Amino acid sequence: TTPLRVGVAGLGTVGVGVVEILRDHAAMIAARAGRPVVVTAVSARDQGRDRGISLAGLGWEDDAAALAARDDVDVVVELIGGSEGPALHLARATLGRGKAFVTANKAMIATHGPELAAAAEDAGVALAFEAAVAGGIPILKTLREGLAANAITRVYGILNGTCNYILTEMRTTGRDFADVLTQAQALGYAEADPTFDVDGIDTAHKLSILAALAFGGRPDIGAIHVEGIRHVTIDDIRFAEELGFRIKLLGVARMTDHGLEQRVHPSMVPLSAPVAHVEDVFNAVVAEGDAVGTTMSQGRGAGRGPTASAVVADLVDIARGCVTPGFSVPAAALGQHPSAPIEAH
Ligand code: NDP
Ligand code: HSE
Repeated sequence: TTPLRVGVAGLGTVGVGVVEILRDHAAMIAARAGRPVVVTAVSARDQGRDRGISLAGLGWEDDAAALAARDDVDVVVELIGGSEGPALHLARATLGRGKAFVTANKAMIATHGPELAAAAEDAGVALAFEAAVAGGIPILKTLREGLAANAITRVYGILNGTCNYILTEMRTTGRDFADVLTQAQALGYAEADPTFDVDGIDTAHKLSILAALAFGGRPDIGAIHVEGIRHVTIDDIRFAEELGFRIKLLGVARMTDHGLEQRVHPSMVPLSAPVAHVEDVFNAVVAEGDAVGTTMSQGRGAGRGPTASAVVADLVDIARGCVTPGFSVPAAALGQHPSAPIEAH
């Protein structure tokens, strides 16, 4: 059988995880995908860096975009990050050559997703980004496939592992914000620029993608009211607990009579709600559909293993011949929903 040959751009927290899983589970993945899925070439900034894995036998490109042009690469995985620059250049180059493209880059999909989806549809190839939202939770697959029968009324949840980890550690250990953030960075949870995490921007990127999938519009970061956790103190957290609430950074999108309301802010979640008990680096996504009612998915939202798990799932789909659609509807049909005014919270 013909292997699916993968080029991996970016060998940091997630990229190394993808290479490891594809090696360690090669036989199992080949059985599930119907053919081997093998990394043939990679790209990062520093070829000499020890990454804890062997790169022997793999092609190397200093310029990530060169992966797209290689004859031994059928699909490119982008794990560099950033909404513009080399990641976007690579996405355009890959889809422009009619090759499938997989990414964990929520900033880029939130900003350029419709353009990239249109390019993928024109080429008849997959644009897959399961890892971009809620780490290891297969929530995009759930919205596109499992809940396809439902008109979604609301989708919300804990979408940033770093913030949930910080809030959990502050509450349970009393350690201060900056100290815990440093630990989240060391664990590989935080973005290259952690202000994206703590100021709610990363949650907004993910929420805009979820909303696009759930409601059929374009991701619209500008329409989201965004507030992060920088100003949450240990006293806030303790007083909330005394009153029967836990503070969580939530992203919420719901369809109202006036349009789509999208907001990201620290929220007082009643201790009786399951979301209040989603702790540490875990994420949770609640989706409400008219037929199914309420569903909730939870799992690790950041880190090497969970994120690489979602990336590899996309590769298995592609190896099986699925042309994963970028969104739930064709890119040309992605309209802009009117924004509802944000109600007090
Ligand atoms: P890292 O910072 O750990 O790794 C980034 C990698 O990109 C590094 O290997 C770096 O090379 C490489 N790189 C940087 N610039 C270039 C370039 N111009 N050409 C080629 N390679 C380049 O990031 P993460 O692995 O944490 O994140 C990668 C992506 O995954 C981001 O989009 C992030 O938002 C997303 N993501 C991350 C999650 C996580 O938990 N970490 C979870 C979900 C999504 P070098 O090593 O040589 O410096
Ligand atoms: N920095 C992100 C987080 C990575 O903490 O959730 C996963 O998208």
